[in-house]
Amino acid sequence: MNRSHRATASAHPNIALAKYWGKRDFGHNLPAVPSLSVTLDGMCTTTTVTFDDALEHDEFLLAGAPAADGPTGRVVTMLDRVRAASGLRARARVESANDFPTAAGLASSASGFAALAVAAVRAAGLDWGAERTSDLARRSSASAARSLFGGFVELDAGPEHVPDEGALLSARPVFPAEHLPLAVLVCVATEGAKAIGSTDGMRATATRSPYHAAWLADAPRVFRAMKTALDARDFPAVGELAEHSALAMHANAIAAGLVYWTGVTIDVLAAVRALRARGVPVYATIDAGPHVKVLSRPEDAALAGTWMRAVPGVLRVIECAPGGGARVLGDVAEAP
Ligand code: DP6
Repeated sequence: MNRSHRATASAHPNIALAKYWGKRDFGHNLPAVPSLSVTLDGMCTTTTVTFDDALEHDEFLLAGAPAADGPTGRVVTMLDRVRAASGLRARARVESANDFPTAAGLASSASGFAALAVAAVRAAGLDWGAERTSDLARRSSASAARSLFGGFVELDAGPEHVPDEGALLSARPVFPAEHLPLAVLVCVATEGAKAIGSTDGMRATATRSPYHAAWLADAPRVFRAMKTALDARDFPAVGELAEHSALAMHANAIAAGLVYWTGVTIDVLAAVRALRARGVPVYATIDAGPHVKVLSRPEDAALAGTWMRAVPGVLRVIECAPGGGARVLGDVAEAP
C-alpha cells in the first residue's frame, strides 16, 4: 500500500545581534562562540514535507523548481537523520518557498532549515519538542537552531570536547518578542546570491585570518554584554554591541580575504553613522552578504527607512519586527 505522511511548517529568519562565526567542530557543526539573535516577523519560509513510498529518491523544490545539487544534498542529510530516528524508509518530496528573494542571500538557510526540521519531524510522526528539533536544525545550519524560537534567542558554543553523536546542542529563547520594541530595516543591496557560503567562509577564516584567535576570545564577552543590555532593555547598548559584533566578525573575515561587502554596504553603514551623529539611535549589523540590517526604535523606523532608501544602490528596504518561532501549519495528513 502506498502511504504518504505530510506536514507543512513555517519559520522566520533571524538576525544575530551577537554573531556566530567559526566552528569548534565542522563535522558536528558545533559553533565556536555563543550567539544571540532576534527572530524577524517580516519574512517567512513555508515548507511542506511529504514522505511517500512511491518516490524513488528525495526531491527538493524551491519556489516550484528543482533546487541545485548543493542545497538538495543538505536537505537529504537532514531527511536521513529524521528517517534514522523514526524508522521511516520512504523518500520525501520537500516543497519550500520564501516570501522574500532567496537568491539575495537574505538569511534563507536559517528559516529554511528551521521550517524543514519542523515539517520533517512532524511528517515522520516523531514526538519531538522544540529543543530536539532545534538541535536537528542546528546540525544543518547553526543559525537555523535559533529560528525555532520567537523573540530573542541564544545558542551556546559547542563543548570543548566533541560529544557523543546523540548529545543535544539546541538554541533557547531568552526574552519574548515584546521584551524590547525594535525595528529591523533590511536594506537589500543586490539580487545576486552571496559568493561564499557561511560554512566555507568560516573554514577560510579559521585557516587564514591572523585575527581569528582574537575574535574567538572577544565574542563570548560581547554575547554576555548583549544579554545584560537586553535584560536592561537598554536599546543604545544593544545597538552598539550589535554593530561591534558585526564589524569584528567582518574584520576577521576580511583579514582572511573574504569581503562580503560591496560599495552599497559601506554607503549604508555611513548613512547609519550620519543619522546617529544627528542624535537618532540607529545601528548596523551585517551577515555574510552585502545587506546592512539597520536596528532602530520603532518610532524612528520611518525616518531611518527614508534615509536608507535614499542611499544609491539600495534596491528596497524590508521592515521587520521581533517575531514568533517556527510552527506547524495545519494537521498531518496520512493519505492512503
Ligand atoms: C553571519 O548558520 O549560515 O549569519 O552553520 O555553517 O550553516 P552554518 O552557518 P550559518 O552562519 C550564520 C553566520 C552569520 C551570523 C549568525 O547568524 O550568527
